[in-house]
Amino acid sequence: MIKELIKINDLSFKYEEDGEEVLRNIDLCICEGEWVSIVGHNGSGKSTLAKFLNGLLIPYKPNVVSIEGLDTVNEENIWEVRKKVGMVFQNPDNQMVATTVQDDVAFGLENIGVPQGEMSARIDWALKRVNMESFSNYEPHRLSGGQKQRIAIAGILAMRPSVLILDEATSMLDPMGREEVLDTVWKLCKDEGITIINITHDLEETVHSDKVIVMKKGTISIQGDPQEVFQHKEKLTEAGLELPFPLQMQNDLMVKGYKFSTACLTKEDLVNELWKLKSKI
Ligand SMILES: Nc1ncnc2c1ncn2[C@@H]1O[C@H](COP(=O)(O)OP(=O)(O)O)[C@@H](O)[C@H]1O
Ligand SMILES: [Mg+2]
Repeated sequence: MIKELIKINDLSFKYEEDGEEVLRNIDLCICEGEWVSIVGHNGSGKSTLAKFLNGLLIPYKPNVVSIEGLDTVNEENIWEVRKKVGMVFQNPDNQMVATTVQDDVAFGLENIGVPQGEMSARIDWALKRVNMESFSNYEPHRLSGGQKQRIAIAGILAMRPSVLILDEATSMLDPMGREEVLDTVWKLCKDEGITIINITHDLEETVHSDKVIVMKKGTISIQGDPQEVFQHKEKLTEAGLELPFPLQMQNDLMVKGYKFSTACLTKEDLVNELWKLKSKI
């Protein structure tokens, strides 16, 4: 049975009492094991929303944000919520705290009081999941950006979270690092059943998601699976987002009168559709 993991019910928020609302009437439901993309222009409220998901920000009233049935308005739930929802941030260099990779992964475990005997098994397990097991004695500063982000992910995984949030975690990486991180996270979702929330301003990262949530000025402007969301090309552009290259090219061809049977989200889709066109010429 599909289990609802995160539920948000009419969440609005402003940082300053006389300031503008940064989130406005957000309703959202995320199920266990889903890969969800939250996409939007700078300042659209993505990071603020993420902070509500792990109790860094607390709603004003009950029944607005709940994680696995725990209402984050209750202070006694916050510790549990933070263990369930781990977050990886943008800058890989700000996330390394120890002098070796294994100590870095151990850091969070020490904080939550995992017994010494259990710790090394958890560290090994987590490093394996991110394909970094042969680096356990390395100094973090010698690693590439993609490797550092995978270590940051391992540090969270070791705490056995249900949800992993990546807040623009690939935006400072080169294309290879970005792919490493996304592949790793993809496997965690599909093999380990961890729910992934990938926050990005890059629509290309969203095409394989189960659900895409498009944010604009603190509201959800579109949500659905990628095929549904990418139908709304104008709204995506209005939200300040650049369409993925295959979709952009498909658009240009449509303007010239070519007809397609489906939206081309990936290069593979585009190539397939172009072959079909060719056979009609
Ligand atoms: N700590 C803060 N105090 C006041 N305003 C903030 C704070 N953090 C973010 N904001 C404002 O809230 C809005 C949404 O920001 P943010 O959630 O960081 O958006 P995004 O992650 O989509 O770029 C922006 O206008 C930003 O300037
Ligand atoms: Mg942000």
